[in-house]
Amino acid sequence: MEKQNLTFLVSSCCFFLLLLSEMQGVQGSSSHHHRHRHHEHRAVYGFHPKELFVFGDSYADTGNSPKNASSWEVPYGITFPGKPDGRYSDGRILTDFLAKYLGLKSPIPYRFRKYAPNRLKYGMNFAYGGTGVFNTLVNSPNMSTQIDFFQNLMDESVYKKTELEGSLSLVTVSGNDYSTYLAEGGTTQGFPSFIARVVNQIAVNLKRIHDMGVRTVAVAAIEPLGCLPEFTFLNSFKQCNATVNTVSTLHNTLLQQAVAKLNIESKDSGAFIILDLNDAFTAVLNGIDTTVKFETPILEPCCLGTTSILGCGSVDAKGEKLYTVCDNPKAAFFWDATHPTQAGWQVVFSELKSQFDRS
Ligand SMILES: *[C@@H]1O[C@H](CO)[C@@H](O)[C@H](O)[C@H]1NC(C)=O
Ligand SMILES: *[C@@H]1O[C@H](CO)[C@@H](O)[C@H](O)[C@H]1NC(C)=O
Ligand SMILES: *[C@@H]1O[C@H](CO)[C@@H](O)[C@H](O)[C@H]1NC(C)=O
Repeated sequence: MEKQNLTFLVSSCCFFLLLLSEMQGVQGSSSHHHRHRHHEHRAVYGFHPKELFVFGDSYADTGNSPKNASSWEVPYGITFPGKPDGRYSDGRILTDFLAKYLGLKSPIPYRFRKYAPNRLKYGMNFAYGGTGVFNTLVNSPNMSTQIDFFQNLMDESVYKKTELEGSLSLVTVSGNDYSTYLAEGGTTQGFPSFIARVVNQIAVNLKRIHDMGVRTVAVAAIEPLGCLPEFTFLNSFKQCNATVNTVSTLHNTLLQQAVAKLNIESKDSGAFIILDLNDAFTAVLNGIDTTVKFETPILEPCCLGTTSILGCGSVDAKGEKLYTVCDNPKAAFFWDATHPTQAGWQVVFSELKSQFDRS
């Protein structure tokens, strides 16, 4: 009994310290933001979001994954905050860059909501690494369950429907649905109908979030999956796998149609928006966006497992590292087999920003 209490105390203390360091990090880094101190909220899609609600997978998760996930292992977080903090990168990710752009603090991970009540006003992050719209190989809440968590908080009046009129939602999901499909022996012929099922379920989920009161729901069109190191290591990271990229292309085409339909049905053309990660990744990987000079080959990840491409952060029974890390993560686009570095996300976000400006 005592031991249990102690464990609880220690772990809640660590959560708290972690939160503190995270908050300091985010504030300390945003010198630009300091110049616009007076809670200035930047407009996207014709309004100034005051809260950000995030759903999906590791492209958005800032700490919900369980402590045995790779995002909590060294060397994750080495650039920011300097130690693993549950982000699947060496530092900040999409959620952080979007929040900062909007003039908001990065929304608190659902898991830590009780430890920082003063952060709830910026929204909440319900995303879990490894998850999909359907259940995947990872035993974490799928997107429907994440929305259930949000609904429970609404039922408890933590958030009110009227307040959500000023909120934006970010959704990144479905890469894990496709890798699970492949891992479970799904056939190439079966892919189109599976993709259609995934997109139909996304549409149901997006509508549900909007019906709960969120003003604008921005869903990511998925990145070119065949360009992820997971698929390019077979050719020494020299070129993207065109076959795998057709999955992204079909997914994104169906997603575009689904979003257009949702906007017509809701009679509000700004209710559902696509955030085109595919365009953004492609611009960077093809060298069209040259704001950052990445080392070549650009498809090679900074952190590479020595026994498995997915092994960044893994150790053997003796605790010896089963991975290598590059000298300068700031000059690498990919961090591990599936995720960009902080520098990668930064330039991807600058591409997405120009999409906001056009909309
Ligand atoms: C982490 O622990 C949970 C139980 O808390 C388990 O379900 C899951 O499979 C574990 N994940 C890994 C990657 O070991
Ligand atoms: C999400 O997960 C729950 C719990 O495992 C499951 O009951 C539900 O069917 C899943 N939803 C979808 C759309 O797969
Ligand atoms: C592309 O990926 C698929 C699926 O993993 C694989 O079967 C195929 O051999 C890869 N093609 C190339 C050119 O690497």
